[in-house]
Amino acid sequence: MSKATRMILLGPPGAGKGTQAVRLVEALGVPQISTGDLLRAARKAGTPLGLKAKAYMDAGELVPDDLVVALVEERLREADAQAGYILDGFPRTTAQAEALATRHVEIQRVINLEVPDDEVVRRLAGRRICRACGASYHVEFARTKVEGVCDRCGGETYQRADDSDEVILKRQAVYTEQTAPLIAFYRAEGNLRSVSAVGTTDDVYAAIWDALSI
Ligand code: AP5
Repeated sequence: MSKATRMILLGPPGAGKGTQAVRLVEALGVPQISTGDLLRAARKAGTPLGLKAKAYMDAGELVPDDLVVALVEERLREADAQAGYILDGFPRTTAQAEALATRHVEIQRVINLEVPDDEVVRRLAGRRICRACGASYHVEFARTKVEGVCDRCGGETYQRADDSDEVILKRQAVYTEQTAPLIAFYRAEGNLRSVSAVGTTDDVYAAIWDALSI
């Protein structure tokens, strides 16, 4: 049975979309396209888009649809995305899903990662990211060998500004209001599979892998 290579990872903040996308990239040989990562890179580079996005991201609000859709459209035109892609954190609103649908390229699977709210808070509050290479860790579940130092590249790890308790609550509310309706949107298309994101990262990966069979 073949596996889907054009997919969306849907789920609340902290569900593990980024963690699982990294493993899927290796297994499937298609790129992860994370709008969060693209926007953070734009901020770091100080581009006009990055400057516009900053206030929304720091507040836990969504960056306006037109900016995000243009960013993704540009990324999807690149050569490495022609054989497939793992969309991580996009679409996040009905308008974004509709914009994606206008490309007339079939999304073969939408994986909906399900995780309770209290677990999301634990995961996000303990997350640490490498400043240099972007590797993701957790102070309890995925610790670095040396505290504060990335295992992969030796860079310094830090806590994302939007992983503060207050902004986590805001992001959860934004998810419920603006992104959760996409579950019904894709269920109606027939390509949605819901997967429990509770358990070890290996357990979750195995469940996603099964759900990618087409
Ligand atoms: P973005 O970066 O996309 O953030 P998010 O959706 O909130 O997702 P996260 O990256 O926080 O979580 P994740 O599900 O990837 O979890 P992870 O694998 O890291 O977006 C940030 C901001 O950018 C948004 O708020 C918005 O402003 C803007 N933005 C982005 N896309 C946009 C769009 N399309 N439209 C408009 N605005 C947009 O895991 C979390 C932690 O849990 C890690 O520490 C990890 O080690 C741990 N973990 C993972 N899996 C497990 C497990 N099974 N057990 C225990 N721990 C685990």
